[in-house]
Amino acid sequence: MSNKNTVSTLLEMKRRGEKISQLTCYDYSTARLIDGAGINTVLVGDSLGMTMQGNENTLPVTLEEMIIYGRSVVRGCKNAFVIVDMPFMSYQKSAEQALENAGRIIKETNANAVKLEGAVIPQIRAIVKAGIPVCAHIGMTPQSVNAFGGFKVQGKDEENARRILDEALELQDAGAFMVVLECVPPKLSALITEAVDMITIGIGGGAGCDGQVLVYQDMLQMSGDFVPKFVKHFARIGDAMTQAFVAYDAEVKAGTFPGPEHSYTKSDCSDEFLFRLKAEYSERMKKS
Ligand code: KIV
Repeated sequence: MSNKNTVSTLLEMKRRGEKISQLTCYDYSTARLIDGAGINTVLVGDSLGMTMQGNENTLPVTLEEMIIYGRSVVRGCKNAFVIVDMPFMSYQKSAEQALENAGRIIKETNANAVKLEGAVIPQIRAIVKAGIPVCAHIGMTPQSVNAFGGFKVQGKDEENARRILDEALELQDAGAFMVVLECVPPKLSALITEAVDMITIGIGGGAGCDGQVLVYQDMLQMSGDFVPKFVKHFARIGDAMTQAFVAYDAEVKAGTFPGPEHSYTKSDCSDEFLFRLKAEYSERMKKS
């Protein structure tokens, strides 16, 4: 029996009141570990612009890059449902542009769904009509960082809280099956979660959402010194990696790595042959 998470198994989890887990991922090795741990959904987020490429924000990421990273993640996921982000300016222009690029992502990565930021209703309608599941993303939408003037909590006042709820209802009406609520106060997120049948996934959205997503480098303490309020370190892998790199550096420099147990000693030729080989080589060197 297949354990593959699908749109219907995930919606069924919401109906049953079971929480849904999601992590970002950008490569095959990590995807295998995340999938093996039983995480329900994996997001190939355009946050890779920061986590994998060292950019200041997500804006420079291209469609081609999303496809390359997305393809590797899909290969590592047997059961997790894989969503690939549509990067900045790959869908904002028109429904036609959005449909064409969503189609490329699905065709070229074999992912299960795409994610778009904002209440881009005509784009979402066109993609859903083509049979591609859509995850929406509202609240703090990083591709609009310049319009927001930084990474800030959204929906704090009544007008904006009403706008975010209205957007969620419109997105559901357009056919989105899931929505990420980023940096939205917890009572508002819980209210939206109750108001819609689609799945709500929180990141800085409080515990009332149907599920949670974190950037995997953030939850493993691999992202540097700034830790957003919504991030919990589930392990200190950043420290563990640094310790391992320091130990490796020291052993290589001390000549203690590799030892015999990490060398192909049994495959070496006889000492006698190697002695002759060295003599032949020295002779050749003298002549040249
Ligand atoms: O790009 C991303 O990783 C995201 C998550 C933070 C939700 O959009």
